Amino acid sequence: MILVLNGPNLGRLGKREPDVYGAETLEDLADMCRETGKRLGHEVEVRQTDSEAELIGWIHEACDGRIPVVLNPAAFTHYSYALRDAIAQRTAPLVEVHISNPAAREEFRHNSVVAGVASGTIAGFGLQSYILALHAIAEMNATS
Ligand code: DQA
Repeated sequence: MILVLNGPNLGRLGKREPDVYGAETLEDLADMCRETGKRLGHEVEVRQTDSEAELIGWIHEACDGRIPVVLNPAAFTHYSYALRDAIAQRTAPLVEVHISNPAAREEFRHNSVVAGVASGTIAGFGLQSYILALHAIAEMNATS
């Protein structure tokens, strides 16, 4: 099982700044992730929340269950020390993903407070960022 967790405003994919985030919806993304999971032999569960508390609760669940995570922390990336502290407790790989390339955008997006406690980061490949992250997790599981 792999959890794919999405932070605030990602439920608005398809409507939200399509020039930056594309025309596909969260449901399209969920279908792609589940399909990739099937091919890789992993059940994939996709969730989204606008709530920091709920997202942290899901990270705790993953920590306790040793569940690998693909996480798009959205804007929490740039300022949530609480989310970082939750991720620091991880017991399985966690890959930070971004649809856009934050390093090529506004200054405030250049810093990620979660990158230092993630296994790694994949950014800038549109929804493919998630697919690459699922492959990375499947690889890590196969070799660990
Ligand atoms: C994002 C990038 C963040 O800076 C932004 O706040 C988001 C989405 C991305 O996927 O490109 O909400 O995480």
